[in-house]
Amino acid sequence: MGGFDFSKRDSFGSRMGVIMAAAGSAVGLGNIWRFPYILGENGGGAFLIIYLIIMFSIGIPVMMSELLIGRRAQRNPVGAFKVLAPGKQWYLVGMMGIISAFMILAFYTAVAGWTLEYIYQTLIGGFTAKSSADLATMFESFRSDSLRPALWFAVFMAATAGIVLGGVRKGIEKSTKIMMPLLFILLIVMCVKSLTLHGAGRGVEFLFRPDFSKITGTTVLMALGQVFFSLSIGMGTIITYGSYIQKDNNLAGTAVEVSLIDTFVAVLAGIAIFPAVFAFGISPESGESLTFIVLPGIFQQMTGGMVFAFMFFLLLALAALTSTISVLEVIVAYFSEQLGLTRRMAVLLATLSMFILGISASLSLGVMRNIRLFGLNIFDLFNNTTANILLPLGGLLIVLFLGWFFPSRDIRDELSNNGTLAVRYYSLYRFIIRFVAPIAITIVFLNGIGLLKI
Ligand code: TRP
Repeated sequence: MGGFDFSKRDSFGSRMGVIMAAAGSAVGLGNIWRFPYILGENGGGAFLIIYLIIMFSIGIPVMMSELLIGRRAQRNPVGAFKVLAPGKQWYLVGMMGIISAFMILAFYTAVAGWTLEYIYQTLIGGFTAKSSADLATMFESFRSDSLRPALWFAVFMAATAGIVLGGVRKGIEKSTKIMMPLLFILLIVMCVKSLTLHGAGRGVEFLFRPDFSKITGTTVLMALGQVFFSLSIGMGTIITYGSYIQKDNNLAGTAVEVSLIDTFVAVLAGIAIFPAVFAFGISPESGESLTFIVLPGIFQQMTGGMVFAFMFFLLLALAALTSTISVLEVIVAYFSEQLGLTRRMAVLLATLSMFILGISASLSLGVMRNIRLFGLNIFDLFNNTTANILLPLGGLLIVLFLGWFFPSRDIRDELSNNGTLAVRYYSLYRFIIRFVAPIAITIVFLNGIGLLKI
């Protein structure tokens, strides 16, 4: 079990590879499954506006912060804080990230597994002649089955492990360069189909016309949680990817591009889904079942619906895969660099422990539904605590670290590539990480968990 040889650290090969891998991490079930139902439950257009404000004012600066921590330290999240703040407790932020990574991967890969079941169902004609009630029963009985969800989880986890085993350049970069363009094409086709349905206009209106009376403290917390989740920030995924980025990359530019791609895909997913939802007279507030119950019902009534259903669930699976690899990579980088395991051993150990956690999350909607903590089953516990608590908390600590405890000079050097790039945004960025982001995250967070009432 020799130590890790840092001179042989893997890295991304090209600028394009960096964008594809990072956008691949960001774009995922968060955009296509989570964003539409959270938006639907939280007032449509009004939610979108709050979301965009938080994205630009907090999301992008936090992403820049993670990229720069990673690239400066050339380490996994735990190692990064140990290098940048030797002898201090900051590495615990990295540890929290590793714990979040396990929790996210558990429920996220479970949902990714459902998409495989649904791809399979489109192939065997499983939705044919089913009423919405039948589809709801079908989804519930699938989710509560004691074997199938766990099986699909295992398949998805194995695919994720296979890519991560290939390494950063030959596994992650190479595969995302193929999957991301494909995902984009599928999404555009879905949007065109949805917009050309009769009655699509009301869906577009729901998405883009804000009703501000719908905004409450919870809306803002949900939007904040969604921005963090969607950008993959707050737990060290971006620190890890940042650590594989070349020294001549413009980190601020990368953060902006990745965030814009991510936001664009979320909006496109809204355009692919809401016009269809309204065209078929369904309430946008259907919650998380939107993707797995409502949409199959809609596909079934469309001409050529099964082709679109197949494309849609394939789109989801691809989006999920480019994200699960980024989360697994965090754990693998930690295991290999901090514990000195080989990549192969690290992948094996991470995957085996994920099997236990993930299968529990999968089955917590069925046979294990009576195991509860704080009134939540394992799945909801992982889903809610990560997005609404651990990620914002991680983001808060990351900006506090850079804003108040790390030399401003070093931050500037890292963002400007030692003075070769102009960093005109620097004072704005510094003001955000010192004041705006910490205060906003704290208020939204305390309000959301009920400790502060505004
Ligand atoms: N951002 C991804 C999505 O929207 C999910 C994801 C990948 C993630 N890595 C993460 C979420 C790290 C939080 C933290 O689907």
